Amino acid sequence: MARLAGKVALITGAGTGIGRATGVLFAREGARVAIAEIDAVAGEETAHLAGHGAIAIRTDVTDEASMEAAVRATAQQFGALHILHNNAGGSTAQDNTVVEAPIEEFWRVIQLDLFGTFLGCRVGIPEIIRSGGGSVINMSSNVALMGIPGRDCYTAAKGGVAAITRSMAVEFAPQRVRVNAIAPSATMTERVRKLVAGNAALTRLAEAHLLGLIEPQDIADMALFLASDESRMVTGQIYPVDSGVTIS
Ligand SMILES: NC(=O)c1ccc[n+]([C@@H]2O[C@H](COP(=O)([O-])OP(=O)(O)OC[C@H]3O[C@@H](n4cnc5c(N)ncnc54)[C@H](O)[C@@H]3O)[C@@H](O)[C@H]2O)c1
Repeated sequence: MARLAGKVALITGAGTGIGRATGVLFAREGARVAIAEIDAVAGEETAHLAGHGAIAIRTDVTDEASMEAAVRATAQQFGALHILHNNAGGSTAQDNTVVEAPIEEFWRVIQLDLFGTFLGCRVGIPEIIRSGGGSVINMSSNVALMGIPGRDCYTAAKGGVAAITRSMAVEFAPQRVRVNAIAPSATMTERVRKLVAGNAALTRLAEAHLLGLIEPQDIADMALFLASDESRMVTGQIYPVDSGVTIS
């Protein structure tokens, strides 16, 4: 039987990369999927690839009204919301040490990765509660679990995501909302392939992967577990999908 039969999922930043792989997988596993993506064309492409009635909603996760409208449209279209995957985010080549990074890069990533996740939860969790409970899947990173130099803006944002994942898990467990996060190491999306190519520290990190390089599908598979009832007793956890990087 399909692992997400009867579920409604909203995935942010699913126009490309990990979010796209997750949207396609969730739809294949029977979920009704809403793609909340700032790039309208990319969002439509993912919805088309996913099929099973998936919809794309042009959304800016850093804007409360826009995120609210995405949650409302999803619930109106599909009648509920059970799975919220706050996936939109990502680092850039501008990141650096706390001393060298441009201040604008700090606020960019705090706004997108941390505040975007905060807003997604703020407007999404009440809808999940109205739907009888469900699963929030945030996107952290291995930078939140180990000391990786030269990415202090991104590290601050993803550390914040990991921390609020735990507090929200405690706050909303009584209403049957589970809150977990995935902490991937370098995952070979188009964006990351370009980043790794120009960065010696990231290239060394990629070479340290015990089981080889991680593909978007590997992260989507973890998201599927966290979205499904197979993880019904799992909450407040930060799951590395890292090819052994954090233990080697
Ligand atoms: N790829 C990796 O190596 C890696 C590692 C650890 C964590 N992550 C995290 O996984 C998530 C997805 O990463 P990815 O590599 O697939 O990224 P990606 O750049 O391929 O995709 C991100 C998507 O988010 C969209 N987006 C950007 N700003 C937005 C906004 N304001 N509102 C809505 N959508 C917006 C982009 O248009 C894009 O489609 C991010 O949170 C990233 O930090 C990625």
